Amino acid sequence: MRLVNHLIQSSIKRHFVFLAMGAGCSSTSSAVTSSNSLQATSTAIATAPARMYSTDKPAFSVEVCKESEIGDGSPGMKQVKFGEFPVLVGRTADADRRLFAIGGKCPHFGLPLAGGQIAGQRLRCPFHGACFNLVSGDIEESPGMDCLPTFKVSVRASDQMVLVEGTPPADGKFVVQRPLAGYQPEFASEHFVIVGGGPAAAAAADSLRQEGYRGKLTVLSADSVPPFDRTKLSKAMAAEPALLRTAEHYAQHDIELMLESRVESVDPAQRTVEFQSKNGRVVLPYTKLLVCSGSSARQMAVDTPQRGVFYLRSPDDSKRIHAAGQGADAVLIGSSFIALESAAYLVANGAKSVTVLARDPVPFKALFGEEAGKAARRLHESKGVKFVIGELQSFASDAQGGLSGLKLKSGDTLPAQLCVVGIGSTPNTAFLPAGLLAGGKPGSPLVVGPDLRSPSDSNVFGAGDVLGYGHWQTAQTQGRLAARSMLGKPVRQPLATFFWTLMFGTGFRYTALAAGGDGRPSSPWKRAVVAEPKEEFKFMTYLVGEADQVVAGVAVGAGPAPVVLANLLEKGQPVDLKSLV
Ligand SMILES: Cc1cc2nc3c(=O)[nH]c(=O)nc-3n(C[C@H](O)[C@H](O)[C@H](O)COP(=O)(O)OP(=O)(O)OC[C@H]3O[C@@H](n4cnc5c(N)ncnc54)[C@H](O)[C@@H]3O)c2cc1C
Ligand code: FES
Repeated sequence: MRLVNHLIQSSIKRHFVFLAMGAGCSSTSSAVTSSNSLQATSTAIATAPARMYSTDKPAFSVEVCKESEIGDGSPGMKQVKFGEFPVLVGRTADADRRLFAIGGKCPHFGLPLAGGQIAGQRLRCPFHGACFNLVSGDIEESPGMDCLPTFKVSVRASDQMVLVEGTPPADGKFVVQRPLAGYQPEFASEHFVIVGGGPAAAAAADSLRQEGYRGKLTVLSADSVPPFDRTKLSKAMAAEPALLRTAEHYAQHDIELMLESRVESVDPAQRTVEFQSKNGRVVLPYTKLLVCSGSSARQMAVDTPQRGVFYLRSPDDSKRIHAAGQGADAVLIGSSFIALESAAYLVANGAKSVTVLARDPVPFKALFGEEAGKAARRLHESKGVKFVIGELQSFASDAQGGLSGLKLKSGDTLPAQLCVVGIGSTPNTAFLPAGLLAGGKPGSPLVVGPDLRSPSDSNVFGAGDVLGYGHWQTAQTQGRLAARSMLGKPVRQPLATFFWTLMFGTGFRYTALAAGGDGRPSSPWKRAVVAEPKEEFKFMTYLVGEADQVVAGVAVGAGPAPVVLANLLEKGQPVDLKSLV
């Protein structure tokens, strides 16, 4: 295993001390779940380093408006420009009513934050729900890895004019990276190991270093590429994987990223993981273990032909599906998000015909309610996707072993040269002792508490799909929180889980209160109420539980409603339906 040499360490140490002289990072005022702050690891934690993106001589100085014209929260927010760079200026919506000035583009996909919703000291992105601290710029909830730049804001005494000054990040970037501490040999006795190379692992690895962890840090990933954006695989199948961080990033910050390294067992008593690497079998000791091994596509219990039937999980899968889809009759099995997104992609990208074979006539009904589910189906049908309600009996193949069709239980046959199976996922826990899993059953999700720590082993933590509830935002946010928990720092609670899917350019965005550690919605809904005004592919459904309290919601198309709801749910107080419709 590579460890950087002492010379480099000394320089990292000097650099680190320099950074640590600035302001510390902010904390939130929300309720927290305490975890044991007297961890042995606390010695390996440095004071959180400050961000160093502004300069002494600001490149821009802009008059915004009179101070009295800046109201509280989102409605009072103004946008100014530093050249081409948008800057949002406003007031926090807490008792402090602090003036702030932050970068106006979201680090996740670079989309404008101007329509974002403020709650307390945080701004939530209107698109996929990322949350930023308005004072520090820190990202506090994903999606996304990076922070917003913040700028100096002041009020001129002579005329009460609000002034914003600063220098946007260099090279046309619109985000800033929170500084990362590096490994230091005096903390060699601490070795944190992360299993997995997805968004939860990526967020956790960065966060550990950003929170000042200076011990050894190893990420064991079965993937052949560094962590990438898996959500794009069904939306842009032919594209190269969009890396969350480069291999150089990990090397630079003393994060040992070991690709093609599949963990085969964990021994909690010995505190070791055993894995198969490119160079053979390795037994690696850990002091703390974070399991982010995600999930795998659920397999069909039916014999499959040699060619033509695919599951979608990796960049190789998506490229193969794209290639096989050209001129093909494609059938998607299941009405999952992956199946419907794949259908949307294939019908627009070279398939001859696209059919969804589903058991339920209304996709996503159990999660989204009837109206949003029907909208998803109508949207697909309006673009030429056919729905067949039925079940697969067996696959038919041609003389060369390629797929030729799907025989249904009804006796019908669907001609197909390509089939993508999207019938859900199962958590990757085969390498974990059953005692860590739900019900003590092999194959079940890993169990954690609200602080992302295993209740049966205080050295084991978990984040992401491996906990049994899988969405990108949840996985990344949990990765970040698990890192804090591993360092004995408090973990923000409650959280609103936020999920999006994109089909034919129409987004479906879902949010729910998730009080437990696994990110699962905390209460079931009993009725779905569609808010007015309603357009065919633009409306909000509130999912209502006991006593007319809204427990979740889903928006079809654009609009701030799900982001507003997420902010309300995170206050941890009942959200009355009457206050929203
Ligand atoms: C095609 C597709 C489209 C999606 N689109 C969306 C979307 O639009 N919106 C949304 O919210 N979510 C979407 N998701 C779901 C989202 O991608 C997942 O929720 C998220 O990736 C989960 O992150 P994770 O880190 O928990 O696990 P994963 O991303 O599954 O990563 C798990 C990692 O663990 C590694 N691993 C597994 N077992 C081992 C082992 N034994 N040893 C070492 N490493 C191991 C894997 O190689 C992988 O690197 C999509 C998923 C797919 C597949
Ligand atoms: S663009 Fe802001 S969360 Fe996705």
